[in-house]
Amino acid sequence: MSKTTHTIAVIGGTGDLGGGLARRWAMSGHNVIIGSRTNEKAEAAAAELNASLGIDTVTGQENGAAAATADLVCLTVPFSNQQPMLEAIQAGIDGKILIDATVPLMPPKVGTVQLPEEDSAAVKAQNFVGEGVMVVAAFQNVGAAHLQTDHAIECDVLVAGNDPDAREVVIGLVEDAGLKGWHAGPLANSTAAEALTSLLIHINRRYKIAGGSGIRITGEPGTAD
Ligand SMILES: NC(=O)c1ccc[n+]([C@@H]2O[C@H](COP(=O)([O-])OP(=O)(O)OC[C@H]3O[C@@H](n4cnc5c(N)ncnc54)[C@H](OP(=O)(O)O)[C@@H]3O)[C@@H](O)[C@H]2O)c1
Repeated sequence: MSKTTHTIAVIGGTGDLGGGLARRWAMSGHNVIIGSRTNEKAEAAAAELNASLGIDTVTGQENGAAAATADLVCLTVPFSNQQPMLEAIQAGIDGKILIDATVPLMPPKVGTVQLPEEDSAAVKAQNFVGEGVMVVAAFQNVGAAHLQTDHAIECDVLVAGNDPDAREVVIGLVEDAGLKGWHAGPLANSTAAEALTSLLIHINRRYKIAGGSGIRITGEPGTAD
């Protein structure tokens, strides 16, 4: 468990990835606020998660209010709606870490790498919210279905961001979600993780991998001079 108990707003927490992360973080003792475009949907998702975990710490709020209440915010919405969601939460996120899990998938060719003008959805987010928000990109390569289980997940998480301290906080949250996180350098490096997702989607289809394939970094830290 991270040294700090966070109050985490999961924007789009009613969905597949956000719901999985909300579940794992609530299980590990964080206070989770599920964000949605509507209060009712957020509250219903929070009640369902509390009931399934036998806890009462998960709450639900409209996205803007959720982001303002939390000390840390995680964005889990489709790329097509990333910009409007950033606009909805911007007033409440200054000085906070914003974890961005957005993959710039552009249907229908989601198994083909297609990047936005900025080369990265996370860089696009950072450009929009400004330097007062510490955007950290993570979780683009984890299949949501795995997060909905209780078992260990065979997938590492590449954590990219311009502020190493913010990256370290997110690596703690990756571990709290039952995964191994790696410092992956500045936010611009998120391009690689975002692009990898389309490769994984292609592999999932080609090899019929239930729950989705993942990535693993090999090598033992601390063994080089
Ligand atoms: N699913 C995965 O396995 C996975 C893995 C890695 C990364 N990602 C990335 O994580 C992000 C979320 O993926 P997801 O699969 O969790 O998405 P999702 O279930 O389709 O949507 C997540 C939530 O986003 C909100 N939303 C806002 N605008 C929307 C719109 N125009 N259309 C649909 N929903 C909208 C909805 O919440 P409200 O209706 O409550 O507002 C919805 O529940 C994406 O960028 C995706 O590429 C997903």
